[in-house]
Amino acid sequence: MTATKKKPAVKAKASKKYGYFDDANKEYVLTTPATPIKWCNYVGTLDFGGIVDTTGGTLVCKGDPALNRITKYIAQMPNADFKASTVYIRVKDGKSYKFFSPFYVPTLQKLDKWECHIGLSYSRWIAEAFGLRVQVTIFVPTKSNTLLQDIQITNIAGGAKEVDVIPVYEFSHFEAEKQLTNADWVPQTMTLKAHPEKDGHLVLEQYAYMKRDYAVNYVTADCKISSFDGDRRVFLGCNEMGSWQHPLSLDNKELSNSECDRGDNIAALMIHAGKIGAKKTFRTCTQLGQEQSLKVANKAIKKYRDLKNVDKAFAELAAFWDKYLETIQVKTPDASFNTMVNVHNPRQCHTTKNWSRYLSLYQLGYGTSRGIGYRDSTQDLMGVMSHMPEEALVLTKNLISVQRPEGNAMHQYAPLALEEDTGSEANEGDSREKANAVDAQGNHLYADWYGDDHLWIVLTVASYLKETGKMELLDEEIPFYEKGKKRAEREKGTILEHLKRALKFTREHLGKHNLPLLGFADWNDCMNLPLGAESTFNTALYAKALLEMMDIEEHLGDTKAVEMYKGWYEDVKKAFNESAWDGKWWVRWFDKDGNAYGTNKAKYGKIYCNGQSWPVISGIATGAHAEQGMDSLNKLLNTKYGVKSSTPGYRGFEPSVGGISTYPPGAKENGGIFLHTNPWVMIAETILGRGDNAYNYYCQINPAAKNDILDVFESEPYCYPQNILGDEHKQFGMGRNAWLSGTSTWTYQAATQYILGIRASYNGLVVDPCIPTKWNGFDAVRKFRGATYEISVKNPKHVSKGVAQMIVDGQEIDSNVAPIFTKGTHKVEVILG
Ligand code: NOJ
Repeated sequence: MTATKKKPAVKAKASKKYGYFDDANKEYVLTTPATPIKWCNYVGTLDFGGIVDTTGGTLVCKGDPALNRITKYIAQMPNADFKASTVYIRVKDGKSYKFFSPFYVPTLQKLDKWECHIGLSYSRWIAEAFGLRVQVTIFVPTKSNTLLQDIQITNIAGGAKEVDVIPVYEFSHFEAEKQLTNADWVPQTMTLKAHPEKDGHLVLEQYAYMKRDYAVNYVTADCKISSFDGDRRVFLGCNEMGSWQHPLSLDNKELSNSECDRGDNIAALMIHAGKIGAKKTFRTCTQLGQEQSLKVANKAIKKYRDLKNVDKAFAELAAFWDKYLETIQVKTPDASFNTMVNVHNPRQCHTTKNWSRYLSLYQLGYGTSRGIGYRDSTQDLMGVMSHMPEEALVLTKNLISVQRPEGNAMHQYAPLALEEDTGSEANEGDSREKANAVDAQGNHLYADWYGDDHLWIVLTVASYLKETGKMELLDEEIPFYEKGKKRAEREKGTILEHLKRALKFTREHLGKHNLPLLGFADWNDCMNLPLGAESTFNTALYAKALLEMMDIEEHLGDTKAVEMYKGWYEDVKKAFNESAWDGKWWVRWFDKDGNAYGTNKAKYGKIYCNGQSWPVISGIATGAHAEQGMDSLNKLLNTKYGVKSSTPGYRGFEPSVGGISTYPPGAKENGGIFLHTNPWVMIAETILGRGDNAYNYYCQINPAAKNDILDVFESEPYCYPQNILGDEHKQFGMGRNAWLSGTSTWTYQAATQYILGIRASYNGLVVDPCIPTKWNGFDAVRKFRGATYEISVKNPKHVSKGVAQMIVDGQEIDSNVAPIFTKGTHKVEVILG
């Protein structure tokens, strides 16, 4: 794929109200800017990149959205408002000018055609107006610190047209929160300077004063710049009575060449495209970047002033994605399943791996209170482990480095502070809010640690080991986190030791029923019961982590350790079965006095989704209770738009349960369809062998299948949102908080590893599908440890599960595990029955 060459899109689907999936080009093509709510795409990585919304607004950061923000994107502004960037296309009209934006925003000028192609780390607009066709492509070349904006204008009407291009960016103070909270200090420090070059090129340099010698932002273009503005007030005109919709500067031939010694810094460039004749195209490419100095930036500036390098960079980006996605490609009878599994779901996993829950149109990345979440990122990593294990390992090690010597983990860390080794890079998350609450005797009422965080890392490391076979990783030493100490001064331990301490921490923090303590919270952030409460989720996660650890130790040949962890597993399984069954389902928590939550006796929050799925996933649910719990879930929690996290929702704020009851019934954790929980239901169903159920749960939440009901769903159909309102809410079915959700990693794992059943193991590639009975089978290609496996699954008896025969390279083998080959292409034929 190059900047211009594309495969023909599937036109038949173009009739959809908002847009359609163009699978051939791996894009979603939006055909109207009037999306129900703001939709967006991601470009670049956390190292440099951010969000591009569908109307040209860009939120760009380098390394940390809170501490090194570049553009001033205010997500709460209405969709039609300017948000940090745009391009004006101006056409001479007699003695005056008319203009439009190819993004539609902010000029709101009627266009003859408008499309936004949401691609893999790029967005491309195609707009037509005044006899011009404008194509704008925004992307960040791989491993670069530059946002490129490739603008091509073609005269499609005939008769030469005199055209100008005016791209504009507005800068943020690097400390994102300060930009919003301090209107004296921020503008006093903001500076924009122009550096004209002899040949007509121009670089606009921008920095906050204290950063001048460390990090400067810049905007430039490949062609000559005849004038510019760096001061927003000057550009908009008339003391800002001119607007972004109609900047008064655009009525003049040239901009005012305003630098900015303080105030609202922008970078507006006047590029005269000159007279564009019929069918002729003018092309220019802008650059927005950040480097230590302009001198350092010069190399990249020169490089991308050559449009051949822009094309090359775009082709490299496409090649990156082709390679990333070819790790697993599938062909099943369900087109929207294929669309998600082959393109959009693994792509979303890449996004969550980069931005954790830090930067989206919902998680705004201000302040350092959020950062990279321990619980979230450990899970996100599992979604990219097959595609980019070594990149995943970098983040895995960062997370391990904020585990405390006691074994539990800090809840989140700020990436820049970690890099700078500040000694205070990590924090305890929301538990800090209640850290000082004490009872009459002065005892702390709440834990300042989360009961689940440290356990997830066992699953993450295990997934790396299974994918790569590199067991030597376990010997690598990483420091534990000791606040206030520099890394070199902290206690170190091997990664294996880190995992052991994680399990030991939970083993040593049990409650009245011998079940793991809740801590401040488990997966459900919103349930914060006083110290002493127990969590059946933490119980199941602990058990699952123990199973993974037994596998690791077995592979290492440490039979004594295997026996010990087996003992711990049996202990917790017994304790769980002795205390957690409620009659028709499993309870979810016990408070410090032993009262159950998630029981039929309760008025609200009678049954919880994770309370049923996780005991199955971890194997601690015994006998008929495993299926019974899942059947109760189906009966009481399932809806046509997904499984609710609990029911009924609390009807008002109840201080005893806190966060969960701050939402109205049907929203978020309070009886909403909190999507992250749904893939766990799918996985549990596959473990029970109920493939029709698993697939049904998959389809209910598949966003690609919601393209026809976007007026209900509202959220982007090309990625999973975090939540959908439940049936106790009037807006049942409405999705919110798109992109950064654990739904992505787990639905991807559920689809590929459990429904299709293709998963890495220490001994080879497992193929153990659990598919809907109506499927005749499916095909898949999976890269694993250097080899390519061409898998074909046939289902002649229309069962869900059970491998009757596996033939690898023509030879029948006595299991469902294809051997490790390390190279070549190998045929794996599987017959179910
Ligand atoms: C969102 C948080 O990012 C995630 O860690 C948590 O598990 C869910 N909320 C559920 O409470």
